[in-house]
Amino acid sequence: MSSIKNVTIIGSNSVLTKPTITALLSAGFNVSILSRAETTVDPSTFPSSVTLLSADYSSLESLTSALQGTDAIVSYVGGAGTNGLASQNKIIDAAVAAGVKRFLPSEFGANSENKKAVALKIFASKLPVQEHIIKAHNESGLEYDLVIPGLFFETALIHDFDFVRLVGISIPTKTADFLDGGNIPISLSTYDFIASAVVAILQRPASNGFVRVFNIQKTTRELLALVQEFTGREGWTITESKSEEVLEEADVLFDKGPEAFWSALAKQVTVAAGGKGFGNDFESDNEELGLSVLGDAELKELIKGTVERATRKAGSTATQA
Ligand SMILES: NC(=O)c1ccc[n+]([C@@H]2O[C@H](COP(=O)([O-])OP(=O)(O)OC[C@H]3O[C@@H](n4cnc5c(N)ncnc54)[C@H](OP(=O)(O)O)[C@@H]3O)[C@@H](O)[C@H]2O)c1
Repeated sequence: MSSIKNVTIIGSNSVLTKPTITALLSAGFNVSILSRAETTVDPSTFPSSVTLLSADYSSLESLTSALQGTDAIVSYVGGAGTNGLASQNKIIDAAVAAGVKRFLPSEFGANSENKKAVALKIFASKLPVQEHIIKAHNESGLEYDLVIPGLFFETALIHDFDFVRLVGISIPTKTADFLDGGNIPISLSTYDFIASAVVAILQRPASNGFVRVFNIQKTTRELLALVQEFTGREGWTITESKSEEVLEEADVLFDKGPEAFWSALAKQVTVAAGGKGFGNDFESDNEELGLSVLGDAELKELIKGTVERATRKAGSTATQA
């Protein structure tokens, strides 16, 4: 059993923040949220038992003071394209100074153990944090887990990257792309599943290494077949692509500067998720954590809801335009 009771989540507005609060509270943990001093957090959007903390992230003293009494930190620091992830190094130092026992850095992506994957720009800001936490572990005994859940299912199929096909499938435009043949299993995790995984991880001894989890692992061809059960097979346009070409396209976009940043990033994520040799078809540690993948009926239900939500979202975006 682990001796963790007080958990601080870093980042008030990650897609994982609310599901993780819910999962931690129902497992009996005390929960705090740490935000940057410049962020205005509306307390009414969180359960009343959650403590809201704030700190100046440039100040070790301010961070150390905010983290007093914290047993474990779950970092969902984001801000891709800013120095958000790098800000964790000071938070790790503050965690050590405040006597925090355990730290889950903001990893939460595709396989950052894989050599081909970590050469991609999308991992560039995660590697220095990995090095820093390992150093802190060796020097101070701070324990850690680097959680790899593969792609966020909802982000990939419904949310932020509308019409960008992170798993090769765009439901609103009825287009699909088979990357490197489309037969490579893609590890995916729903937001709620990641929250449950975080709880399970905190309830067990630290791995002081990588922890791999997913609740869906399907190829693009398998996912498309499931999606088409609800959209029908008519009207779909299918293309094929190769990782090397997609990465070249990403490089061209990165060179264009900030306006093409998200498209470039999405292309690299697509390759990290489903490209041959990029390792997102990893084996999970689900069993040791008491976690399991969705059964066929649950997955079908999820895909049904996803098709409805993605279609509705595209409709409302079109109406607003
Ligand atoms: N596997 C996947 O498919 C996938 C998809 C998306 C993200 N991710 C990963 O999940 C983690 C969280 O990402 P996210 O997209 O949820 O993050 P996000 O929404 O961009 O940001 C989460 C929080 O980070 C804090 N933050 C933002 N910019 C910051 C900065 N410059 N410095 C310090 N803190 C900052 C903010 O909290 P406050 O304002 O409260 O300080 C924000 O609410 C990241 O590691 C990301 O790479 C994975």
